[in-house]
Amino acid sequence: MSLVERVRERLAAVRDPELDASIVDLGMVRDLLVEGDGDLVVTVALTTMGCPLRSRIERDVRDAGFAVDGVRSVEVRVVAMDAEERGAALRAARAHAQAQAPTTTLRPGVPAVAVASGKGGVGKSSVTANVATALARRGRRVGVLDADVWGFSLSRLLGVRGPVEAVGGRMVPLVREVGTGSLHVLSMGLLADEGAALLWRGLVVQKAVAQFLEDADWSGVDILLIDTPPGTGDIPMTLSRLLPSLGVVVVTTPHPAAQGVAARTGDFARKSNLRLLGVVENMAPVVCEGGVRHAYFGEGGGALLAESLHTELLASIPLREDVAAAGDAGQPVASAPDADFDPLVDRLVELAPPGGAPGCSARMLDAIARAVEGAPLG
Ligand SMILES: Nc1ncnc2c1ncn2[C@@H]1O[C@H](COP(=O)(O)OP(=O)(O)O)[C@@H](O)[C@H]1O
Ligand SMILES: [Mg+2]
Repeated sequence: MSLVERVRERLAAVRDPELDASIVDLGMVRDLLVEGDGDLVVTVALTTMGCPLRSRIERDVRDAGFAVDGVRSVEVRVVAMDAEERGAALRAARAHAQAQAPTTTLRPGVPAVAVASGKGGVGKSSVTANVATALARRGRRVGVLDADVWGFSLSRLLGVRGPVEAVGGRMVPLVREVGTGSLHVLSMGLLADEGAALLWRGLVVQKAVAQFLEDADWSGVDILLIDTPPGTGDIPMTLSRLLPSLGVVVVTTPHPAAQGVAARTGDFARKSNLRLLGVVENMAPVVCEGGVRHAYFGEGGGALLAESLHTELLASIPLREDVAAAGDAGQPVASAPDADFDPLVDRLVELAPPGGAPGCSARMLDAIARAVEGAPLG
């Protein structure tokens, strides 16, 4: 396959977040060329230049380009569609919506974000619990799926207890009110005794995770966070199949050696067509009262990892005694405003807006549909 063909194949996995269809299928990739020694130039046609999702689409296209071996640089040029192209995009979006029966119970447009890491013990669950809690405190209804079936810990970290009930054949996540919002939690820890060894085989585990997504009722949540097992096993594969627009955050400690392991996870996310949102460095150096700095887990690994994955460092969370203690108590530190977690949550909300807020192209296509065809989109 030529480089251009491989780039096109990879771009087919980039989705318009509102129309939830491939930008290639929607006719948004107008031109694609490789200059010199792997310098890629992609021209993307948007429904309107003022699209608030423009920077996200640009970023996803750039990421997709860099994910292809042999691409050295990526330039994204953005142009506006003409009326005819917009009409064609509308028809493609409609056909796609009809062909695609959702298998998960998430409402369309609700983002799902997986928290991943190369190895255990880096604070993946702690970050998941704090981000979820901060989002809930701000009024969101936050789904939390603990897909780390062997190392589940979120029920404890979030202070929720079973039993999980089924209504109308669907498992109902356990609800905990936080601030003006709520947490909706499903974890293996709610189905099995914590501490019980789960000697499950791959296929059984995959099925369990699929059931958590398909047979549980997530219809009430604005965003779904998923804590995944460390590494690149079957579960990320299952998630990518069920949630085609899944975003991935990679957590690492600052040690440069940890960075290498985490990089494989980031690469894997990308090769599985998942959306890499960025890196969170956890257990970063601390400055004590006397001004002395301690780098217990090394330093600089987060920035290095972000650079090697062509993504951004979303946050660097220092080693904090209260983070561990609050987790053990089932009351994450981000239950109250928190200078480390709040900026991370701000950025995640920009990258994966909860609730799938309607943006420009959906509204515009809707208007075009009514004007041109006398019928609403859908
Ligand atoms: N920033 C931090 N400061 C101090 N302790 C932390 C921090 N992040 C996580 N921990 C603690 O480190 C341990 C491992 O974290 P955990 O979230 O369980 O990791 P993982 O899910 O990656 O295996 C837990 O005891 C947790 O409370
Ligand atoms: Mg964990």
